[in-house]
Amino acid sequence: MTKAEILRELENHTGTILSFPERGPWGSSRYRGSCSGWIPAFFINKFHVSHMAEVFAGSGTTYDVCKDMNVVYTGIDLNPNPPRNGIQTMDILDDSMDLPDGFYHADMVFLHPPYPSINGIHYSGAMWKDTIGCAKSDIQEMDFETGMNAINYAMMRAYNALPAGSYEVCLVGEIRSKGQYRSMYQNLVIPGTMQQTYIKMQHNCMSGTRVYRNQAASPYALIEHEMIAVIKKPSGYEISYVIPKKYSLDIRDSLYATWKDIIMSIARSSEGILSGDFFYRELEGRKKTLSNPNWKAKIRQTLQQLAQAGLLKHVGIGQWQYITR
Ligand SMILES: C[S@@+](CC[C@H](N)C(=O)[O-])C[C@H]1O[C@@H](n2cnc3c(N)ncnc32)[C@H](O)[C@@H]1O
Repeated sequence: MTKAEILRELENHTGTILSFPERGPWGSSRYRGSCSGWIPAFFINKFHVSHMAEVFAGSGTTYDVCKDMNVVYTGIDLNPNPPRNGIQTMDILDDSMDLPDGFYHADMVFLHPPYPSINGIHYSGAMWKDTIGCAKSDIQEMDFETGMNAINYAMMRAYNALPAGSYEVCLVGEIRSKGQYRSMYQNLVIPGTMQQTYIKMQHNCMSGTRVYRNQAASPYALIEHEMIAVIKKPSGYEISYVIPKKYSLDIRDSLYATWKDIIMSIARSSEGILSGDFFYRELEGRKKTLSNPNWKAKIRQTLQQLAQAGLLKHVGIGQWQYITR
């Protein structure tokens, strides 16, 4: 496709929802998980990119787009026999290998990582032959948590290599697999400055054609989109990043939970008539009580307030019952 034809189509796309029903003539639709070339084309045009770097180059989609748009390209993929000469074989998780020099000149790096734990997609041994024993590094084969750690490592490596002022663009999916829903975007590291989030509408993908049994009754809607993070590297020395971390604690040890939250949680988790002493026992020694020397009085006060509000029932002196909805 000529650059003029590409730019003419891109004129129709000005918002944060990117919908390209055709994937374009770039890369290969037979390569599982390959993306529409219109996505890298959109960002190349938007940010006037002259040198594009890519981790997870796959079937060569971005390589081909760059060729048509006269943009210099440097890419890597785990594939021992990459489909284009401009793609080098490299395991992004192997820190004994440096990223190619082109990453240090690039004004954008594009990452479309594997979607770890998604059913039925395989790269090593399927999309390409593992002739060098690198399958253990194939992020597609990792469980979700291990895969996200690997992707976040790749994000930071690419970011560290970029010159200040460059952009990092990462396309990730929402995964519904084996009864679980996981958002890659929600677990993605964001280094530097968040420039903007885009939604990519999904077209012609395998999951879109799957018919889920009893979909109408399912608590999940069909996934019709992917997410794109656009990040800018503001300066040369500083590495700042936000990385999601999962916390888990007993509500009775949380200093953010109010007395109302905690007393209601105890009442809802317990059966029958509950005495004031029961609440004392459930809370004694917990962090919430350690922060208040008058914690027993606070419990009594909260119980009375909850009874007045109709959330608990006062059934006798110092006795309470949860009102089931
Ligand atoms: C979603 S595909 C990229 C598809 C590409 N955007 C396209 O349109 O063809 C993810 C790619 O990550 C590669 N990959 C998996 N683990 C890797 C690793 N540790 N280092 C580098 N590449 C890896 C796979 O070989 C696969 O080509």
